[in-house]
Amino acid sequence: MNTASRTLVRSALIIFAAGLCISCSEQSAPSASNTVSPSAAPADSSYDLRLDMQDFMNNVLEPVSDVLWDYAGWVDDINTGYEDLYPKTDEEWLLVKQKAAQLIEAGNALALPGRAVDNDAWITYSNALSTAAAFAYDSAQTQNREDFFQAGAQIYSVCTACHQGYNPEISRFASN
Ligand code: HEC
Repeated sequence: MNTASRTLVRSALIIFAAGLCISCSEQSAPSASNTVSPSAAPADSSYDLRLDMQDFMNNVLEPVSDVLWDYAGWVDDINTGYEDLYPKTDEEWLLVKQKAAQLIEAGNALALPGRAVDNDAWITYSNALSTAAAFAYDSAQTQNREDFFQAGAQIYSVCTACHQGYNPEISRFASN
């Protein structure tokens, strides 16, 4: 998808997300700082936590959620007209279902002791990510386009809410 189209899709999601009530957005966010480091618990040798937060975001969360967003919506382009982006075949629905499953688990991985930055809002946002991903998973299972779109918007607002709480300098993400 070209940049203009992606921006359109993203804008549609943001507008949609603005109307959603995400419980964690009302939670008190911790004071902002530019660098975050895990402090919720001492590193636990049961887990391999070699990916730092940036690597985790860039190599786990972003590629997985990008696929979901690529399929969650439509584009209305002045040149090419209306383009529906939803999965069209069983194979495409299976692909987004698998990505949604990965995102459910990525939410868990975000909350691991030693990776979680605190035991408070961080855990709420991580859980909210898994919950929104589970919504995407269920709607992929039933191939429900409207729910799948809403799930994409919810995922986006969880990413944004956590970034606002922990690193407000992240104004753009998931773009390429
Ligand atoms: C629980 C909190 C939390 C959630 C949820 C979250 N992020 Fe992040 N994200 C962060 C933090 C903290 C940083 C800053 C990391 C740093 O620079 O140390 C970050 C940074 C990023 C970055 C920039 C990485 C870089 O190279 O600087 C990207 C991209 C990103 N997140 C994508 C996402 C996406 C996509 C989602 C949702 C699917 C998401 N994040 C959800 C906390 C979160």
